[in-house]
Amino acid sequence: MRSKVERIAVLTSGGDAPGMNAAIRGVVRTAIGKGIRIYGIRKGYAGIYEEEFREMYAEDVSHTINLGGTILYTARCQRMKEDDGPAEAAEILKQHKIDGLVVIGGDGSFRGAQCLSKCGINVIGIPGTIDLDIGCTDYTIGFDTAVNTAVDAIDKIKDSSTSHERCSIVEVMGRSAGYIALVSGIATGAEEILMPETYDNNEERLINNLIVNRKRGHTHHIIINAEGIGDSIGLAERIEAATGIETRASVLGYLQRGGSPTSRDRMYASVMGTRAVELLASGARNRLLCISGGGLVDRDIDEAMKMEKHIPDYLTRTADVLTYHYTKKNSI
Ligand code: F6P
Repeated sequence: MRSKVERIAVLTSGGDAPGMNAAIRGVVRTAIGKGIRIYGIRKGYAGIYEEEFREMYAEDVSHTINLGGTILYTARCQRMKEDDGPAEAAEILKQHKIDGLVVIGGDGSFRGAQCLSKCGINVIGIPGTIDLDIGCTDYTIGFDTAVNTAVDAIDKIKDSSTSHERCSIVEVMGRSAGYIALVSGIATGAEEILMPETYDNNEERLINNLIVNRKRGHTHHIIINAEGIGDSIGLAERIEAATGIETRASVLGYLQRGGSPTSRDRMYASVMGTRAVELLASGARNRLLCISGGGLVDRDIDEAMKMEKHIPDYLTRTADVLTYHYTKKNSI
């Protein structure tokens, strides 16, 4: 018979993502509702080593569902990546009598959670990253807000770019994944979307497209460039030198990580926060929460971590048809 779950902990790890607070709130309130004591660990895995455990109560998460960032703070923790790091962290968690740990974070945070699971800590993962780059899930908390932030910024840049008849390169985040670029590019009607998964480094094509587009009387030309490709300033200089058309680069950077989460992020974060505690209370062990086929599922952490990410065809096809590819289409 499984022993009763009495004390659990929650932490946020890796890059912050809008909606993390809604997930923490879901965890805290559900735990309290079940009579489970809940501890917030500050600063991600680093807070385990520093023993930054604090018991949380319902009022600690009041008025947080709408807040960006994470009230528990976050960090990227080198110690967890060292050979004996997870074992030490597991020992500290055991000393604090933690029966289960909810980790809200991205791929790297889940790798840390997987290592903890091997050291006897029961972990439940909630995907929280703006990058949407986790293989086992169709959705990660923060992606929707980050895309909406990027779309808002790109629309504004487009206004100015059109007024000056310039070409604009907008660099969006995503580490080595192109999801933010792809979705924000489709949503803003960009002329080009460059993402690491598909970009062929063909600058000549980019330049030809711009020249032909300009000859046809188009006054704007927006190129969305993913962080994984980078070098937006260099690209702008090369395009301007080759075409004589003023070209400016804007790197959106960390503003994509901040801000009040969208309703979609709040909703999924709440759903996952609640489910994480239900799983722990029911005796489930080492699961990652995922959105799959529109539903909420939980997968074994080892199986889930083996899953690869594939950009859905319908998105790349749409981008392909609606962006401007001079070399593929010779009339519009
Ligand atoms: O994973 C989220 C993310 O914002 C990535 O898009 C980006 O590459 C990275 O984090 C930046 O990390 P840091 O906050 O450590 O500079």
